[in-house]
Amino acid sequence: MHVSLPLLCGSLLPFLTGSLALPKARAEKHYAIMDNDWYTAGFVPFLIALDGNVDVLGLASDTANTWQPQVALHAVATLEAGNLSCIPVYPGATWPLINTPHRFQAWESIHGKLPWEGAFAPENKTLDAQGNDPTSGNPNRIVKSAFKEGFPKGKPNNSTSAANFMVQMVHKHPGQVSIYSAGALTNVALAVRMDPQFASLAKNLVIMGGYVDLNMLEATGSIMLADLQSDINLMIDPEASKIALTADFPEIIVAGNVANQVMPDQKFLDEVHEVRNPYTDLFHRYYDLLFPFWDETAAALMVDPSIVVNQTSVYLDVDTSYGSPNYGNIHVYQKALAPPGIGKVKYVFEVDADKLKQRVKHSLQHPKSCADLKK
Ligand SMILES: *[C@@H]1O[C@H](CO)[C@@H](O)[C@H](O)[C@H]1NC(C)=O
Ligand SMILES: *[C@@H]1O[C@H](CO)[C@@H](O)[C@H](O)[C@H]1NC(C)=O
Ligand SMILES: *[C@@H]1O[C@H](CO)[C@@H](O)[C@H](O)[C@H]1NC(C)=O
Ligand SMILES: *[C@@H]1O[C@H](CO)[C@@H](O)[C@H](O)[C@H]1NC(C)=O
Ligand SMILES: *[C@@H]1O[C@H](CO)[C@@H](O)[C@H](O)[C@H]1NC(C)=O
Repeated sequence: MHVSLPLLCGSLLPFLTGSLALPKARAEKHYAIMDNDWYTAGFVPFLIALDGNVDVLGLASDTANTWQPQVALHAVATLEAGNLSCIPVYPGATWPLINTPHRFQAWESIHGKLPWEGAFAPENKTLDAQGNDPTSGNPNRIVKSAFKEGFPKGKPNNSTSAANFMVQMVHKHPGQVSIYSAGALTNVALAVRMDPQFASLAKNLVIMGGYVDLNMLEATGSIMLADLQSDINLMIDPEASKIALTADFPEIIVAGNVANQVMPDQKFLDEVHEVRNPYTDLFHRYYDLLFPFWDETAAALMVDPSIVVNQTSVYLDVDTSYGSPNYGNIHVYQKALAPPGIGKVKYVFEVDADKLKQRVKHSLQHPKSCADLKK
């Protein structure tokens, strides 16, 4: 085929220069600080990050499904399970900015119960004794029997707080650090308020949470279906959610409704377990088939935005009025109608399910260890 010069200049040239620019872009290192309510089978997100060549600077702990001190020890324990203790764990805030179990339970008595109340479920000594992570009561109590992955030998690094570590790292690597949050946003909000440059110096904020337009499903489906639509991560600390999600991060990626898209099944667990290692063993034994790949979806989006099949850009706010049934839930706007002081986020509707499952499987079957990270 004859290619005329104008065509070459007009369409191929930008492509060529674009591809020439790629090696430089690839050399740019991608770091992450991963903040979560870590638990026995909660290691897949950091394995996905490491498998995607993201340098995980540290894990941070927050109070969401259970209290922060228990979460930090789960982080240490699940790193130890795979010789990943070279990744430090920085303890986050134990208390949300203003929320408390009492305040949350009082809200529920007016606006209705959540199927899953996380750390704010009433204290239940029977459940503690059965090896469940602690709820309400003394936030500093550690329930050792909940460490089915093994109680950690090491400790979180208490030389600084999670929020302070986040601030330090974005200054050290401006524009290169992803802040991943798949629990409550308390630490991220503290970092935002502590340092006015923090958000703008990060690469992006990637969260799990932020459901919209699912109220009818909560009303007409099973309690289980209602559970999958209740936004506990944001609701544990609504004020922090608002501070974090309206801060001037260069990019905010929200894995809200899409986090419910891809479910594990027994066949997948078995397939992953064809390769035996401590992580595939724990995954096979403890990953709950009732729940979608929530935190895994957000981790995969952080590593590889090309798994997105459908997304939109919206202006996002968080409802912080205690008198509202949507307290702690997001509200989205188009630009022309958005109130001042909020920003645009990437709201993902759909991901490539096969690519996501491939990432989960590969990261578990070929987990990086500290020996690999030193190379
Ligand atoms: C961790 O290190 C120990 C000692 O070097 C080794 O025996 C074990 O196989 C390693 N485990 C993993 C998951 O790499
Ligand atoms: C505590 O949990 C146990 C086990 O699930 C349950 O039978 C019991 O009703 C709970 N107690 C309270 C006070 O909710
Ligand atoms: C804890 O983290 C600090 C950096 O914040 C580091 O200097 C120190 O070596 C770490 N401590 C341990 C025991 O790893
Ligand atoms: C931090 O950890 C060190 C070493 O484990 C311990 O001695 C110290 O008491 C801890 N500090 C706090 C505030 O927990
Ligand atoms: C993207 O998702 C939105 C929301 O579910 C839907 O309205 C729209 O049709 C989807 N677009 C494509 C191209 O699938």
